[in-house]
Amino acid sequence: MAMSLFLNLMFPPPPSIFVIAMSVISFVALANYGLSEVRGKHLNYSKFWNVNNSNNNSKKHIKFSSKVGMLLLYSPAFLAATASFWIFPNEGFRTTILRCALTLHYFKRVFESLFVHKYSASMLLESAIPITLSYLMSTITMIYGQHLTLDLPEPPINLLYPGLVLFLIGIIGNFYHHYLLSKLRGKGEKEYKIPKGGLFGIVICPHYLFEIIEFYGLSFISQTLYGFSFTIGTTFYLLGRSYATRNWYISKFDDFPKNVKAVIPFFF
Ligand SMILES: NC(=O)c1ccc[n+]([C@@H]2O[C@H](COP(=O)([O-])OP(=O)(O)OC[C@H]3O[C@@H](n4cnc5c(N)ncnc54)[C@H](OP(=O)(O)O)[C@@H]3O)[C@@H](O)[C@H]2O)c1
Repeated sequence: MAMSLFLNLMFPPPPSIFVIAMSVISFVALANYGLSEVRGKHLNYSKFWNVNNSNNNSKKHIKFSSKVGMLLLYSPAFLAATASFWIFPNEGFRTTILRCALTLHYFKRVFESLFVHKYSASMLLESAIPITLSYLMSTITMIYGQHLTLDLPEPPINLLYPGLVLFLIGIIGNFYHHYLLSKLRGKGEKEYKIPKGGLFGIVICPHYLFEIIEFYGLSFISQTLYGFSFTIGTTFYLLGRSYATRNWYISKFDDFPKNVKAVIPFFF
């Protein structure tokens, strides 16, 4: 029953070992990173940029400023999404919407890194590499996977328009909460404060919540195996990271309100 519903929502799996393998690898890797965050082993950026290494100073780590790191993370995926308009021209409405959405998503990230976020921390090269590869490979695979659906029958249930609505809600909500975070610091300030406004009163990572909504929007637009597997993997990662973030706030601020959940209002 559940399987047949799922098959009604998706293009048939593509005849490509690469896309099928990437669907499994992305899901497993992202879910595993989420579990590691819960277990206290973090990807080293933002609040957690130095946590796994403070007891390990003998090992030499390459690090750069968060701004440079974030640009390194997002630029290759942005360029790949943009280049796809030339590599696979004229592929129909659904693919065009998907490529526009991915390009806008990474353009926004680059824009925010340059002009919105006020970073205090650094990023380690060993964290930047897997994240950069994940964004780049997921963008390439999502677009290539869509290209492979061109000769396949459309899924019986069309999720393109609900997907577009979810994507827009997600990207706007995500941007708004990034803006609120940026207002916590004056020019040159580096300290952390308890965020306020928007949904920060009920979850401590509303920007992750909207990111998850945005990714469900993308997978509804694409309706491919890879779109869904990457989105579910991303959900697990952001659940893990938000759980770690909430614990970080509880340990740092005595007055952190305990009723504020990690990422899913009133629940988690
Ligand atoms: N798709 C995915 O797999 C994935 C994975 C991770 C993140 N993301 C997305 O990427 C975006 C950024 O994520 P992130 O983990 O870097 O977010 P973040 O740790 O919350 O940081 C975002 C910005 O806000 C600042 N900030 C955060 N908390 C603050 C506080 N309490 N006081 C003052 N400033 C504060 C950070 O400064 P510092 O740099 O100084 O901490 C940084 O400039 C999010 O929208 C997230 O959804 C996506």
